[in-house]
Amino acid sequence: MAALHETGSDVAVVGRAARLRGDLQLPGDKSISHRALLLAALAEGMSRIEGAGDGEDVRTTARLVGALGVAIEREPAADGRTVSYAVRSPGLAGLREPDDVLDCGNSGTSLRLLAGILAARPWSTVLTGDASLRRRPVARIVRPLRAMGADVHAREDDRLPPVTLAGRSPLRAIDWTTEVPSAQVKSSILLAGLGAEGRTAVAEIVATRDHTERMLRAHGVAVETVRDGSSGGVRVTIDGGQQVSAVDETVPGDVSAAAFWLVAAAIHPDAELRLDGVGLNPTRSAVLDLLARMGADVRVSPEADPTASGEPRGSVVARSSELRAVDVAPDEVAAAIDEIPVLCLAASQARGTTTFRGVGELRVKESDRVAGIAAGLAALGGRVEVDGDVLRVHGPTPLHGATVDALGDHRLAMTFAVAALAATDDTTIGGSSSTSISYPGFFDDLERVVS
Ligand code: S3P
Repeated sequence: MAALHETGSDVAVVGRAARLRGDLQLPGDKSISHRALLLAALAEGMSRIEGAGDGEDVRTTARLVGALGVAIEREPAADGRTVSYAVRSPGLAGLREPDDVLDCGNSGTSLRLLAGILAARPWSTVLTGDASLRRRPVARIVRPLRAMGADVHAREDDRLPPVTLAGRSPLRAIDWTTEVPSAQVKSSILLAGLGAEGRTAVAEIVATRDHTERMLRAHGVAVETVRDGSSGGVRVTIDGGQQVSAVDETVPGDVSAAAFWLVAAAIHPDAELRLDGVGLNPTRSAVLDLLARMGADVRVSPEADPTASGEPRGSVVARSSELRAVDVAPDEVAAAIDEIPVLCLAASQARGTTTFRGVGELRVKESDRVAGIAAGLAALGGRVEVDGDVLRVHGPTPLHGATVDALGDHRLAMTFAVAALAATDDTTIGGSSSTSISYPGFFDDLERVVS
């Protein structure tokens, strides 16, 4: 038995795989799918989106955009992994004041990016979410949006959702340096900047994923990016009042979803997995560089044509590997923020001690991922040490089956499932239904590649 996961249940049992082989079609990139829906909502007319992810988070953004008076049709694609959307919008100026609280579910991206758009609408809105999202920080968007002139508040001294927002049109342009490397914060300010008078600037000490900037350009909006080659920082500027044009988008496969299969193959003794159409945006693909540095046999073949918004993509093949420990610096942790849990698993099978520095942001994701990965990997036989914002994983240690808790966090659930494929005895994963947040077909794919 490789996996036993009953749809509708929140527990999966996953056993050791004798072999891992196969080609997988990944879900559409979650970050890019959110942005494609949001920009389609800002553009007057019809936009079509192909290859979008069908996880709960992306469905949440589609539902919220619908609540703003945008007509949305969702159609499952023949591949069974992605969906297409037809979005007909009256454009930014024609959006409608929602008649209820906007429930962002588990999705931080929906809440933070929508807050930026709504800050420039002259209405009162409330953004909330599930218990996990209501524990995640929002002061990072409250402060800049307030500085732009929106009347924004949040619970517990502006720290936590719900967020109440009375927007203002036009907003004031600001020049803002983000406190933490966060593409959600950068994107929120840039989207608010579209509705501001003058030029808004966002500076980041560590450059984060640039999907918003690429997609805005593809929709006809001028966005300037100046990189500081020596520090790794970036400064992005946008002029307010620009029109967003309707554009058809194709979403590449999610590199963060790919990471689970790359690590699965690398740590398993008899594995070869091929993934097609994976997004290879250099601001997202640090996980590929880190795995290569660890000695993983991961081969990337870029495709000639990027997507409409200039997202490069390609195929990736991963095979069984001898891994070695690496030192992962804070800027690399930021660049591979969603892949750190599964990289910790890779580190547990690498020779030596892998050090991840600057992991503080992982504590405020869908769960406290530092605590979750440390407890789960330890239960599976790993040796993990947490020392403030430094995480050390000593390897290699043989993995054995255990009962682990994914804390309702999709990335922890998938990390533990991948660990189980290389562990002796069965692993029972609590909170496994969370995979539907970003990768609804995850357990079907796992069954497909296991023998
Ligand atoms: C995301 C940015 C990251 C990432 C999240 C998606 C995005 O969050 O962890 O899964 O789509 O912009 P932060 O911006 O909070 O680091």
